[in-house]
Amino acid sequence: MPRYIKKDFPSHNVRRFLEPGPIVLVSSAYKDETNIMTMGWHMVMEFSPALVGCLISSGNHSFELVRGSRQCVINIPTVDLATTVVKIGNTSGSNIDKFAEFGLTPKPGTHVRAPLIEECYANFECELADAGWVKKYNVFVFEVVKAHVATAPKYPKTIHYRGDGEFMISGAETAEYRKLFRPGML
Ligand SMILES: Cc1cc2nc3c(=O)[nH]c(=O)nc-3n(C[C@H](O)[C@H](O)[C@H](O)COP(=O)(O)O)c2cc1C
Repeated sequence: MPRYIKKDFPSHNVRRFLEPGPIVLVSSAYKDETNIMTMGWHMVMEFSPALVGCLISSGNHSFELVRGSRQCVINIPTVDLATTVVKIGNTSGSNIDKFAEFGLTPKPGTHVRAPLIEECYANFECELADAGWVKKYNVFVFEVVKAHVATAPKYPKTIHYRGDGEFMISGAETAEYRKLFRPGML
């Protein structure tokens, strides 16, 4: 068992250890506009209905599109898109069309108006399930109403965010601990 020497750590930075990723791209559509933003702050909240909490800052252009349409698509990019993912997070859709700017393909969904990003490994069409935390925390609780997932590879190389510009790429898979796992646990 490892033993660590520890020191005080600023609580505002604990996110660096807790942020699970994967980094996602949130696409949205409202009136005659579409947009994409990069998002690391999301949380699974329920199996069924499949609820996901998403923190979308009120300063982001996407906030208005998502709040107005009450929909979005959560897209899962892989490491091949890492540069684009960061650039999308550095720009605002208020002055550029991010689909055109970054050469991404908008694909119509089946349940929501927000476009799927074709180049992403998975696309989850979402409808707003609970707006109760929007005002206080900028958190939208979405229900995934339709999921599209690539058939291969089984384990995509997703991008995970530690904060402060540090990223990691999903790595080794192991089934070693499965035998310890009690069925029924998360
Ligand atoms: C790696 C990364 C993770 C980010 N995570 C979030 C997040 O969880 N929530 C958020 O509101 N903004 C997040 N941002 C910032 C937005 O992506 C950024 O403000 C973006 O430009 C918003 O685009 P928009 O104004 O077109 O909506 C992140 C940016 C990066 C680069």
